[in-house]
Amino acid sequence: MSKKQVTTLALQTQKTKGEKIVMCTAYDATFASILDAAGVDILLVGDSLGMVIQGHDTTLPVTLDHMIYHSAAVARGSTRAHIVGDLPFMSYRISEEQALTSATRMLQEGRAHSVKLEGGKDLAPTIERIVMAGIPVMGHIGLTPQSVHAMGGFRVQGRDAESARRIIEDALALEAAGCFALVLEGIPAEVAAEITSQLGIPTIGIGAGKHCDGQVLVCYDLLGMNNDFKPKFLKTYNNLREQITDSISHFATEVREGVFPKEEHSFHGKTPRLVSSPTKATPITEDTPERIYGSPA
Ligand code: KIV
Repeated sequence: MSKKQVTTLALQTQKTKGEKIVMCTAYDATFASILDAAGVDILLVGDSLGMVIQGHDTTLPVTLDHMIYHSAAVARGSTRAHIVGDLPFMSYRISEEQALTSATRMLQEGRAHSVKLEGGKDLAPTIERIVMAGIPVMGHIGLTPQSVHAMGGFRVQGRDAESARRIIEDALALEAAGCFALVLEGIPAEVAAEITSQLGIPTIGIGAGKHCDGQVLVCYDLLGMNNDFKPKFLKTYNNLREQITDSISHFATEVREGVFPKEEHSFHGKTPRLVSSPTKATPITEDTPERIYGSPA
């Protein structure tokens, strides 16, 4: 696999060549570096962080400042993947100026390479405006979590012919507006297949069947961090919750039993005579041995 930075052009080439695109959410530098090294093509700094990081029931409380903070952390951790910064609830709906300002901040401060926003053809003029400014936009249609209350819950969309037709129209309008890719979430596999065959740009599915040009999952979900979240579309590739619980319990037991730390985890030095004549503290210099962390501050 090439170590070159993944660009929107490279993603387009992947679709043309029939190579599947791998996208995964990331919210911090450590995860970003792991996912990047594992060969993930797109790191999505998703507003799902409102649920998996912040503990909310929906993504609605997430602010643009939160997104920028996490996006900048992801950017510091990765070198190869294309970074998409999600624009959160109401950060792009109030006016085109507001949308452009939010997208600009996501690239300038959050160091994302592109932005994602949720919505159909009504957003086409906004998307055109952002794209004209040189900021690549990923669309997101179908089950759009920021509209959870309007949808009456996190429900599969496009099950009947009329709503499926509307979703296909949305997809075509977003491509025409200049989106470089589309997330298709929570729609029947047949509808996603139809959209994927009609569009020239890549589709990335989540709960949208196997015919999309790529797939995305929330990293915490695929790693098995939450045993209570088991939607039909999710496959877990690990049981990290159990593994983390075991490791932390082991650490707790060793601390309580005095087994950790051992001699090899301890530093040694001269014991200062504190009782009668307090000694002057020795200043720490470049020559001081046993630096704890590798790089200087
Ligand atoms: O916020 C997010 O993580 C997303 C993905 C689920 C597509 O939008």
